[in-house]
Amino acid sequence: MSGTAAEASWTTVASLQDFAGQRSLKISVEGLELLLVRQADKLFAVHNYCTHLGKPLDKGRIMAGQITCPFHGACFDIATGAAVSGPAVTPLHCFPARFDGEQVQLDLTRRPPSQLSAFPVFSVP
Ligand code: FES
Repeated sequence: MSGTAAEASWTTVASLQDFAGQRSLKISVEGLELLLVRQADKLFAVHNYCTHLGKPLDKGRIMAGQITCPFHGACFDIATGAAVSGPAVTPLHCFPARFDGEQVQLDLTRRPPSQLSAFPVFSVP
């Protein structure tokens, strides 16, 4: 790495082997519980908590670039975090993610002030 400011924000949080052949991997890092999702050669990282009622998403179905919450069926775009279908309306927070060889790296500096803890932000209907 050249040590530029942009590269300095990448933190290694796992390795490719940690996926053990699975498409997704739940991790805890810096007080956050995140879900990593592999799609071909791309990597995405989202908060592991549904924005509907804060239930974990890691047992949700991942298909066609979307994850479906196993509790009430909210569906989120895994790349953008957008709530594609309800009952959730608030997007998931996404973290920039990449593979660096076998290493899984995230930019954890890009979290909104409201998500400085491991707890999700709830939308109140
Ligand atoms: S907790 Fe996910 S849809 Fe309700």
